[in-house]
Amino acid sequence: MPNAVPMWLARTTAASCLTEDMTTIERPSSNPFLAGNLAPVHEEVTVTDLRITGTIPTELTGRYLRNGPNPVGDINEAKYHWFTGHGMVHGIRLDAGQAKWYRNRWVRTKEVCDILGGTPPPSDWPAKHPSFPANTNIVGHAGRTYAIVEAGSPPVELSYDLDTVRVSNLEGSLPFAFSAHPKRNPATGEMHVMTYYWGWGNQVQYLVVGVDGRVRRHVDIPLPGGPMIHDLAITEKYALIFDLPCVFNLDAAKSGAGLPYYWDRAYEPRIGFLPLEGSASDVKWVSIDPCYIFHPMNAYDDGDEVVLDAARHPRMFDREQRGPSEGDPVLTRWRLNPTTGASRETVISDRPQEFPRIRESLIGRNYRYGYCAGVGAGFAQDTLTKVDHLTGGVIARSDQPRFGYGEPVFVPRAGGTAEDDGWVMALRHDTYSDTSDLAMFDARALDDDPVAVVHLPVRVPNGFHGNWIPDIA
Ligand SMILES: [Fe+2]
Repeated sequence: MPNAVPMWLARTTAASCLTEDMTTIERPSSNPFLAGNLAPVHEEVTVTDLRITGTIPTELTGRYLRNGPNPVGDINEAKYHWFTGHGMVHGIRLDAGQAKWYRNRWVRTKEVCDILGGTPPPSDWPAKHPSFPANTNIVGHAGRTYAIVEAGSPPVELSYDLDTVRVSNLEGSLPFAFSAHPKRNPATGEMHVMTYYWGWGNQVQYLVVGVDGRVRRHVDIPLPGGPMIHDLAITEKYALIFDLPCVFNLDAAKSGAGLPYYWDRAYEPRIGFLPLEGSASDVKWVSIDPCYIFHPMNAYDDGDEVVLDAARHPRMFDREQRGPSEGDPVLTRWRLNPTTGASRETVISDRPQEFPRIRESLIGRNYRYGYCAGVGAGFAQDTLTKVDHLTGGVIARSDQPRFGYGEPVFVPRAGGTAEDDGWVMALRHDTYSDTSDLAMFDARALDDDPVAVVHLPVRVPNGFHGNWIPDIA
């Protein structure tokens, strides 16, 4: 049943409706990051009677969870930045071939509680600690579920049913900031994290979170400026630092910019190589051509070189400062030599793609397959892709104009030995019905019909990142 919502929310909901021909949903906005399926939804719902098409693999028992911005309250459309909307987590619980529930919940902050009512969650931090929406990713670690974001705001622990539990300091072990993109080392189960916060000045902080859920080491790394570092890559030797020319801009911050990180042509783009157990003085740097990287697909050691595959943006937040929309993200391979400083860059595929994912037991290791959301104009997510690094081929599944696909998540089949033996899960928006579903494909047959679809009676706005979190990890 929907939770009670203020009247103005109900009125806003009524403004979103199907067009007469049921083929195109128009939700115009002066801000492209509030239009179409980026427009927020206005209710929290719990649904236990879900329609299923196909057969959900019986071995999948757990939750598919996905986070994303969903602003609540009065929105300043001119100023709104896609990265700053209040976080909303969407979840689908699977259990032995059944879909038990769908839930969506705003991640509670004081601001969200002021708008929706209710008591703000307890916090492990002083009142002045940075606190903005944990809207970017959601991970399970050490038996807990965390909604996470970068730039200084701490992890927010959620219950199994997605209610906000507390603003966490990881049992007193987290020095200050976290990130939206920890990388789990398959050899250790530990999470490697690169964090930043404008108030530190020109430095970032690298963390290693143990399998017990506590930070076991941190390293402060000085930089020439204050770059926005959204993600990191790891190899068996290194943690990679993306020191790229989208940097903190004090004037923008003073003027109240939604996100005060702008493109800076004068900033030297480079990638740092920190030995996984090293210190700041051990970091080696390799210069690259100007670009911006939100998301690596993977990286691995190859002799003295490191291979890095990532979605390469030509620039970020230069003229468009409300979201990423300044040139196609192109899957690119760099071969980087931390000893000699040599770098070489080649295009993997010129088809625009983002949100790269892989079989996560191969993080930091040589690998063959990656999965992405194809990205169209205005960062519209349309196709679902599978990249084969061995053959250079890209399978692109398009169900346009009906479905647009979100980030794909690869879930391995238990006991499977082939790298792509498993399923690709993705939320998709059905523009005919203006609802969403969770589609599951055999990763070895992405062009075939989905093996299962969990149909939701509501729309899930395009968001950021999700994960399959099995009940028994
Ligand atoms: Fe991201």
